[in-house]
Amino acid sequence: MPPARFEPLALEILTLKKQLNAVILAHNYQVGEIQDVADYVGDSLGLAQQAAKTSADVIVFCGVHFMAETAKILNPNKIVVLPDKDAGCSLEESCPADKLAALQATNPNFWTIAYINCSAAVKALCDVIVTSGNAEKIVNAAPKNKDLLFVPDENLGQWVMDQTGRSMTLWRGNCYAHVEFRREALLQMRAKFPQAKVVVHPEALREVRELADAICSTEKMITYCQTSPAKQFVIVTESGIIHRMQKECPGKAFICAPVFDVMKLPSDNCRCSECKYMKLNTLEKVRDCMKHLAPRIELPESILKRARLPIERMLEISARPLVHAG
Ligand code: 13P
Ligand code: SF4
Repeated sequence: MPPARFEPLALEILTLKKQLNAVILAHNYQVGEIQDVADYVGDSLGLAQQAAKTSADVIVFCGVHFMAETAKILNPNKIVVLPDKDAGCSLEESCPADKLAALQATNPNFWTIAYINCSAAVKALCDVIVTSGNAEKIVNAAPKNKDLLFVPDENLGQWVMDQTGRSMTLWRGNCYAHVEFRREALLQMRAKFPQAKVVVHPEALREVRELADAICSTEKMITYCQTSPAKQFVIVTESGIIHRMQKECPGKAFICAPVFDVMKLPSDNCRCSECKYMKLNTLEKVRDCMKHLAPRIELPESILKRARLPIERMLEISARPLVHAG
């Protein structure tokens, strides 16, 4: 149940949900109050899968813009609203469609794999989409006779190359929030909590990934913490995820890995990592976007049509059973 001070607002949202025949989808990084009113909370893959199968008339997408766009591409005839239209992403910003098209033109043998954290216009230029939850599987399934181009997250791309042994040309984008984690800070956490498992998102730098017990998407992080016999975990991703971990893993302790802000005084420079875009959404804005059915995601017909192909390819490959060698 939502905390008492939010109860009237949460109840208003639940009433609007019924009236609109809406579904509320929320990313694991959303604030706890939003997670608590959502029908589904998960990672980018889970959210795309939910969007692909919903029978609701209105999708209220509590996440960032590219996620709501993905839901619209999968549901061109439904209304998709986002609580704050400025909820962007540094990865999406790093890769404008015209620059990608110019790079693609340099090699007709490129097969373009885009991390879902990109604009609809970029998706429309790509062969397949991946999320952090399925990137390894999808790159393993990529045609062997093609030159792979991976956009826009250089760190996720590096990690996938390590996992699959496939060489790829990498776009130089990053998640501004995940690259703030540093090796020294994590070594200090390891020394302070020697029993704790260190769980890292693949958007983090290699120097940080090297210290991990597990590297995975946000949804797989929750499964890992649920199934691991360990009682303490250092979590190297956006701090919003701790809400679900505490709810779904009773009796276990979660420690946010610290990030350091070089612009602040040494005495005041340790904080948990927060994505400023994800945190633009509030419970009030969720209510307002449902009341006004705005901000609404609208996309040109040509983009809607072309961007659907690589997303559907991702969903299809993702659903294939894993084939074990040997
Ligand atoms: P996942 O939840 O898919 O792991 O993605 C994390 C992220 O940074 C989303 O923007
Ligand atoms: Fe983008 Fe990083 Fe925020 Fe995710 S956490 S939305 S990758 S800026």
